[in-house]
Amino acid sequence: MNISELKTIAGNLMAGDKGLLAMDESTATCNKRFEELGIPQTEEYRRKYRELIVTTPRLEECINGAILFDETIRQTTADGVRFIDILKEKGIIPGIKVDEGTIPMAGFPGEKLTEGLDGLSKRLAEYYKMGARFAKWCAVFTIGANTPSSTCIKANAYLLARYAALCQEAGLVPIVEPEVIMDGDHSLELCGEVTTEVLHAVFNALYQHKVDLGGMILKPNMILPGTQNSYQSNTEEIATATVNCFMRCVPASVPGVAFLSGGQPGVLASERLNMMHKKFDEAMPWALTFSFSRAIQQPALEYWRGKDENIEVAQQMLFHRAACNKAARRGDYTVEMEKASEKEWAHFD
Ligand code: G3H
Repeated sequence: MNISELKTIAGNLMAGDKGLLAMDESTATCNKRFEELGIPQTEEYRRKYRELIVTTPRLEECINGAILFDETIRQTTADGVRFIDILKEKGIIPGIKVDEGTIPMAGFPGEKLTEGLDGLSKRLAEYYKMGARFAKWCAVFTIGANTPSSTCIKANAYLLARYAALCQEAGLVPIVEPEVIMDGDHSLELCGEVTTEVLHAVFNALYQHKVDLGGMILKPNMILPGTQNSYQSNTEEIATATVNCFMRCVPASVPGVAFLSGGQPGVLASERLNMMHKKFDEAMPWALTFSFSRAIQQPALEYWRGKDENIEVAQQMLFHRAACNKAARRGDYTVEMEKASEKEWAHFD
């Protein structure tokens, strides 16, 4: 492991006021999103969609790194240029999702474990050769009457730590993604308590497995009330609960925290990130940014709907959400940014 190279990559991923773009939906997840919009669920349409994303003009002004999926890292544009080369050409660091999804956890109804450790070293070596410089592994935790159990938390923390150790050995910066999901009727406070427990378990496992915290990035959920909770906290409450939780749980040696969006509407995700910077920018020891998938891609995907004639506007929409989040990272985001772009696109409908 060359820790100084890993630290440089992690620093570049978190640099300035930019963030990360997660475009690593598995085939099943991508197909599900396509199905909802009537887009053919074929490899060619997934390729076309990923081409739309990576060729978005000025994407590199807002994005430092893009997380790809195994199928995508091997694909090319219609003209035969590898997506990974387009990203590198733009100065966007290519990353790769290396977990292989979740399976039900035997003996623990409703809980899940993430798979993918078997053969991981070999896969990491191949991805490194292809040009990837960071990786991602997601573990999911559901808040319910008896979940998450401490056994599920510990087991997933172990898997995340083994993955992270193997990544560092292979020269890739691990993005460690423990996701407490938004579904449920739990309160903001309970989400904070569960996330705290999960983060303590994860950092304990990372320590046990000798992962160098200076060469990794944390990709957590924001602290949010469950989507079915009757009280939906305001932006300031969410920003305060989120930053307080991370200040307690995330060591200062971690270079960056990059949020997943978890299904939050894009505008809310930008507002919340913005508020964290407005209120706490000076206090936070690590860089704080976004690593959104749906909160950047959704409007573009809905506009594109598989049609070539919609590509140009869809790319403008993608760039717009990325630019809003870039502004949020500085604490400069305002809803006026949304109104201005709505006017811009009105004549396309
Ligand atoms: O694993 C999930 C992705 O990396 C983030 O996706 O922003 O849609 O939650 P999301």
